[in-house]
Amino acid sequence: MNQGIILFTLLQGLISFIDCLKIVMLEVPSPTIAGESVELTCSYDLEDDKLYSVKWYKDGSEFYRYVPKDWPHAQVLPMEGIKVDTSRSASSSVYLRYVDLNSAGKYRCEISAEAPSFNTAADEREMVIYALPIEVPQISIGQRKYNPGEEVTANCTSPKSKPTAKLSWFINDSPVEGSEFKADYSATLHNDGLESSFISLNFVIQPQHFIKDIIILKCVSVIVQVNKKTETQVTLYRTDSLKSKSDNLQRNSVSENLSQVGDFACPRIRSRNHLELIMIIVIILITFNNFNPMDT
Ligand SMILES: *[C@@H]1O[C@H](CO)[C@@H](O)[C@H](O)[C@H]1NC(C)=O
Ligand SMILES: *[C@@H]1O[C@H](CO)[C@@H](O)[C@H](O)[C@H]1NC(C)=O
Repeated sequence: MNQGIILFTLLQGLISFIDCLKIVMLEVPSPTIAGESVELTCSYDLEDDKLYSVKWYKDGSEFYRYVPKDWPHAQVLPMEGIKVDTSRSASSSVYLRYVDLNSAGKYRCEISAEAPSFNTAADEREMVIYALPIEVPQISIGQRKYNPGEEVTANCTSPKSKPTAKLSWFINDSPVEGSEFKADYSATLHNDGLESSFISLNFVIQPQHFIKDIIILKCVSVIVQVNKKTETQVTLYRTDSLKSKSDNLQRNSVSENLSQVGDFACPRIRSRNHLELIMIIVIILITFNNFNPMDT
């Protein structure tokens, strides 16, 4: 009796080994960005078998089943993070609408054959979900006006994302590096599974940091895995140049007014010259005429 069962199992195993159905390819798009819709495809080869069912699992729980003999063929089992669009799903694919962080996990496609073989085959793939930040990083800085020798302290915080954004500082488009700069980095994991990054910057302003009396301080956020980059910048002004700058501003406007006066004055001067010329001619003529009758 026992031997019979063992023999039968061996025989069944042998048969299924010879002409078994198999999964040719399982496609699970990964990484997928939260909010996107994706199609998971399970391509299989039935060999001589007849398909009984295709079942989809995430992390061990079934969420979609396709049974040709049933009506309707497709059946969806509710699961958090899984929104199956049955109209776009079929015997070898399942369409998930608007994936979110809960959609991440191990997806398994399992196919079964009808009697007499009852063969099954399965394969699984991991789906990683990314959530990109929807805003630029935020810079927080005490003041905007500095003189050389003064200390700058600034903070930059990235909006929440997954994976974590990498933050870095730039001064006038040059990456901040070297011992004169102090940059502290930290990341915070939030309840929703997203992370935000924080970087502070501390340095003493040198005269050469100013370019035309300003410093452009920039915080750049990069999600390396998808090469997504966002940035924010602030302008710092040189205090001791502000007065001379306003002097310059006044001098500029004076010279503007002068040049304006000059432009308008020129034609008038020229016309006065004409007038003078005409008057001189008239005087000469009158004098000449006055002389003539006297003579004649
Ligand atoms: C920067 O962050 C530190 C630590 O959280 C805080 O003590 C400081 O007040 C912040 N500075 C600014 C300018 O926001
Ligand atoms: C220059 O002219 C403008 C009007 O055109 C006037 O408002 C301004 O005060 C003038 N500037 C100086 C420095 O005279």
